[in-house]
Amino acid sequence: MSLNPASENPKSVFRAADIVLDSAYQGIDTKSWQSLFAQARSAKVEQFIADLFAGKHVNASEDRPALHSALRNLDQKPVLVDGKDVMPAVADVWHRIEALSNKWVGVTDVIHIGIGGSDFGPRLAIEALAHVPDIETRGMRMHFLANIDTAELGRILQRALPHSTRVIIVSKSFTTLETTKNAKAVVRWLKDSGRTESQIHNALFAVTANVPAAKAFGVQEEHIYPFWDWVGGRYSVWSAVGLPIALQYGFDTFKEFLAGAQAIDQHYRTAPLEENLPVLMALTLLYQQEQHGIKSFAVIPYADALDWFPKWLQQLDMESNGKSVDRNGKPVQFSCPVVFGSSGSNAQHSYFQLLHQGKEVIPIDFIAIREPMSHLPEAKEHHRILLSNCLAQAQALANGKQTDNPNNTYPGKRPSNLLILPKLNAFYLGALLALYENRATILGVLWNINSFDQPGVELGKVLAKPIEAALNNSATVAADANIDAITAQRINLFNS
Ligand code: F6P
Repeated sequence: MSLNPASENPKSVFRAADIVLDSAYQGIDTKSWQSLFAQARSAKVEQFIADLFAGKHVNASEDRPALHSALRNLDQKPVLVDGKDVMPAVADVWHRIEALSNKWVGVTDVIHIGIGGSDFGPRLAIEALAHVPDIETRGMRMHFLANIDTAELGRILQRALPHSTRVIIVSKSFTTLETTKNAKAVVRWLKDSGRTESQIHNALFAVTANVPAAKAFGVQEEHIYPFWDWVGGRYSVWSAVGLPIALQYGFDTFKEFLAGAQAIDQHYRTAPLEENLPVLMALTLLYQQEQHGIKSFAVIPYADALDWFPKWLQQLDMESNGKSVDRNGKPVQFSCPVVFGSSGSNAQHSYFQLLHQGKEVIPIDFIAIREPMSHLPEAKEHHRILLSNCLAQAQALANGKQTDNPNNTYPGKRPSNLLILPKLNAFYLGALLALYENRATILGVLWNINSFDQPGVELGKVLAKPIEAALNNSATVAADANIDAITAQRINLFNS
């Protein structure tokens, strides 16, 4: 990507909460930036940000606000949902999380049962923070049980000690099949391990927006941590869904996590569009779509601790914005590209060949952390190598290399952002997640998409029911209203 002549180089380094964004390798000149900001203004981005934080019903299809920001509103300034301040209820849950996190002495294992938004956030946080040098940890084994595949269940039950295990069932709806089935299986295991009814009762906890369903499942009311329908599942790690963070690393660390996100919210609400990191990040993607028709986007954290980050982002971006109609049901020109990624430098030895020389141009967000993640004697040198790889990849992708041999030619002009975190701790992890949450919502505005519903996940769930019944009945199946001929043939392959 040949940079513009110096005089034309627009500002490319921006800061929010000590996080740096360098967009220089996007190859966007001053004129293009101006037109991107004009586009953002005509999409009413500023009005959307105000509406989002004011609790307006930005989730129009479900007629509700999207107020995950209230969950990290540590100042407790009132946040009104339909005229009622939600902060007292939010603060009450904080107090209960704090009390619980001080109480769990002698617990060896926590089985956190949840999937999608009820899994990725806490799983990422537990994994990422485990790598923070000197972090205070209670040293519990945190098991995340999401998949209905009993491989995961089996692995966890082999390791957990039933008499000192606590179980947290996390489900906004409390109807998700994987979660309720896995919860029943874990209760069955506790019983089979000789735990009494009352011991099981004491070991079960729930985090949900459907308190009656959790009670009906058998979780006692004092063990239920509520959240609310104005929090989207994939935006919910800031609620009691993030309980494992407080249990493992203490309530102060959980608060730091919220504080990092709050700092980004503060920036997002107040910074002009020209300095606003989530807006700038969204606009760089929009530019690459509009100018170069890109269809995929990669996020590569040069930090092993953030290996789960791309998986978290996949749900956030693609479940939020992977849609082909706009808020009015009209076809959109652009929407969410395919999101993928994994930690560098490992990723270099996997799909970077395609990033450098493949036919498709794929914009990348590189994420780097200034400080090494260990105190080992090799830490400084290895970290220098890690960072040099990150910088070198971005440069190679942007500038390419011309040679006489087409096989050794790198086309270049492959855009990327660089995000630099001062260090990885709970604060900057919270800030990083909030940056991308806010970016996702801005992309939704730019594409005129509702980023807070996910109707596309329903059809498959409905169809799975008759198919399961057919698989359970080993008779030969014929196509019917619910099962087409190809699927009937496939069921018969399993049943034969
Ligand atoms: O995959 C669909 C989905 O509804 C996600 O939006 C959500 O994060 C996940 O399932 C789990 O839902 P719940 O928290 O209600 O169990």
